[in-house]
Amino acid sequence: MKISMTVNGKTMSGEAEGRTLLSTFLREELGLTGTHIGCDTSQCGACTVHVDGKQIKSCTMFAAEADGATVATIEGMANADGTLSKVQQAFQDHHGLQCGFCTPGMVMAATSLLEQNPKPTEAEIRHHLEGNICRCTGYHNIVKAVLAASGQEVPAVAAE
Ligand code: FES
Ligand code: FES
Repeated sequence: MKISMTVNGKTMSGEAEGRTLLSTFLREELGLTGTHIGCDTSQCGACTVHVDGKQIKSCTMFAAEADGATVATIEGMANADGTLSKVQQAFQDHHGLQCGFCTPGMVMAATSLLEQNPKPTEAEIRHHLEGNICRCTGYHNIVKAVLAASGQEVPAVAAE
């Protein structure tokens, strides 16, 4: 069946079977490979995107369920002038990534958190990112990056 959705502000269409997951559709039909698939079983969060403004693990949704929806992926996070978003820049500045596999999902989740809660505490950040697994960083620098992106002071040692 033909599926159409607005992705990062553009109308995009592709073919999907009824069982095709949104994560697979984004990557294989729309060529948006920034959405990573780490598990396909809703454990890792690497596939996190926004659907109609809500953060979702795209491997938990069929592409057909997103027909007509507004979707945001990591490819749409940069500013219009091509510079990194506040969250992306903070990840870079605070070394919130190593191999980068989890990073698209982390950035999408952190962006969603700051939309709902512009000044989260460290505990709120950690709680919000619970569904996103990182095998490299130990999470400390990710938490620092989200604190920095929210304009809050990054404690020198609190997150170590
Ligand atoms: S690929 Fe979706 S949660 Fe891991
Ligand atoms: S940076 Fe490697 S999994 Fe997070």
